[in-house]
Amino acid sequence: MCRPSDAIGVFDSGLGGISVLRQLRTRMPRERFVYFGDCANAPYGVRPRQEVAELTMRACRALLDTPVKALVVACNTATAAAIDSLRQEFPHRIIVGIEPALKLAADRHPGGTIAVMATPLTLEQPKFQHLQQHLSGSCTVIDLPVAGLVELVESGRANSPQAAELLEPLLSPYRGRLDALVLGCTHYPFAAETISRILGPSTDLLDGGAGTARETFRRLEAQGLLNKEGEGSVCFRFSGSSRLPYELADSLLQADIPAHL
Ligand code: DGL
Repeated sequence: MCRPSDAIGVFDSGLGGISVLRQLRTRMPRERFVYFGDCANAPYGVRPRQEVAELTMRACRALLDTPVKALVVACNTATAAAIDSLRQEFPHRIIVGIEPALKLAADRHPGGTIAVMATPLTLEQPKFQHLQQHLSGSCTVIDLPVAGLVELVESGRANSPQAAELLEPLLSPYRGRLDALVLGCTHYPFAAETISRILGPSTDLLDGGAGTARETFRRLEAQGLLNKEGEGSVCFRFSGSSRLPYELADSLLQADIPAHL
């Protein structure tokens, strides 16, 4: 039996889900959050789907074994690979996932040109492909699979010269040509400064973090599980023996991310 004072579990392959945690905290400042990042196994996005599904199930089972009233899968890749299995195994728990905010981008920029930057695994998923096909009559959608940026965020180099070197060849052909870029991986908002500098100020950067926080709020409210009296707190846990994730987590929680996200 869940109680309003229970924590909300947040899961990602590593540090990226902190971009979603920020939105969750803004929406629900009185809640306690337990964040688990599977840093020992990141990145997920370049692994086979089955492997990502197994890693996700293992981590989420462990989180759901603790007294959490909801689980937020703050990873587009893990959501794509395992959200259906999670909901099947835990039909009575509140489980919220995140998906690339393509629909939001299409609504904001009807007839526009929209690129979706995400891990290769997220972009390959049939569910995403169907949405893309569905929207193809109303806007132009370009897939931009990226490998390597997650590792830079994980090592504290989200807006480093190395990040610029990785992103320049991918994004500079689109400078001034995109109405919106969907950041379809929760790590990418931390590189928004570099991305924006390459694409120019006319491209709207969008991600699914705020929508995920809204949905989590809605589900908790519907079950009378919002914490109306708590102080609000965050507890970080990471797999692996490195101390680096603990050192980076707080600064990512406070990071200055461009306001238009
Ligand atoms: N942060 C994850 C996402 O939203 C992916 C990172 C990874 O490849 O591990 O897709």
